[in-house]
Amino acid sequence: MHLDDAPLAEMTAERFAAVLAAKTRGGDVLHAITRDRSLDFFVVYSSLAALVGNLHQAPYAAANLHLESLVRARRASGLPGLALAWGGIGETGYVVRSGLTASIAHSGLGLVPPDTACDALGRFLSRKAVSAAVGYVDWDRMGRILPALKAPRFAGRPGSAQADSRDATEDFRERFARTDGEQERKALIGDTLTALTAAVLQMPPDRVDRGAHLADLGLDSLMGVELKAGLHRVFGCDLPVMELMAAGSVAGLTDRLHRALKG
Ligand SMILES: NC(=O)c1ccc[n+]([C@@H]2O[C@H](COP(=O)([O-])OP(=O)(O)OC[C@H]3O[C@@H](n4cnc5c(N)ncnc54)[C@H](OP(=O)(O)O)[C@@H]3O)[C@@H](O)[C@H]2O)c1
Repeated sequence: MHLDDAPLAEMTAERFAAVLAAKTRGGDVLHAITRDRSLDFFVVYSSLAALVGNLHQAPYAAANLHLESLVRARRASGLPGLALAWGGIGETGYVVRSGLTASIAHSGLGLVPPDTACDALGRFLSRKAVSAAVGYVDWDRMGRILPALKAPRFAGRPGSAQADSRDATEDFRERFARTDGEQERKALIGDTLTALTAAVLQMPPDRVDRGAHLADLGLDSLMGVELKAGLHRVFGCDLPVMELMAAGSVAGLTDRLHRALKG
């Protein structure tokens, strides 16, 4: 890598190109000269900066995204490839050598020890992953510095309302089996369904009006298909989308699920 941090407005074309070159030309050359060889691995190191963006590092983020797309193109044509986007690496490497540990921590990044990083590398290689990000991230802290993290495309990140809703639905069957009493079971179905609906609508569960019609909550037909898949995954119930919409509200659907699960 080659770093030259500056606000984008102060970047010159030459400085931008120099940051791009180490990764884009380096990656492209390695790809070109090994394309016809039988490789076991082709691993590139990207950065979390490519995933979330980083002030003053636009060309570095772009260079890493180039590497990630090179890997996707390789995999699409049957060649090996893995792109790992690291957060911060501890004990060795650029961040530690440059004394950036404190400022990295301030931005919400913890440092990953090299042996943990190597374990992750081995794990993603054996899973034949295409790309992955590895790091310790305090998303709330990072969100204060990078407002872009509030964009809908990050709604599924760990700790987000959507991810919390997803977690709340995962252990439904176990909790249902442990719950006695019709009212208690119905309440559990209602809470789980609300969390599931909130995850589909990308809103906090406490903002889902259980009495409102699903369409009025913003559930369109595509989201209906997503909710239907969620009902199958969490409750083991197969409801046609039409019936799902006909149930009207979360409360109506709760009654419908309660009847189905009684059996
Ligand atoms: N360290 C981190 O926390 C961190 C976080 C996110 C991503 N990454 C990524 O992980 C990779 C390694 O990071 P690191 O911290 O280990 O870096 P590093 O210790 O600074 O090592 C960088 C390596 O790149 C080589 N290099 C630099 N400029 C080059 C150029 N123009 N052409 C060819 N080789 C060049 C250096 O060669 P010489 O030794 O000969 O100079 C060195 O071997 C980088 O791609 C970086 O983007 C690291």
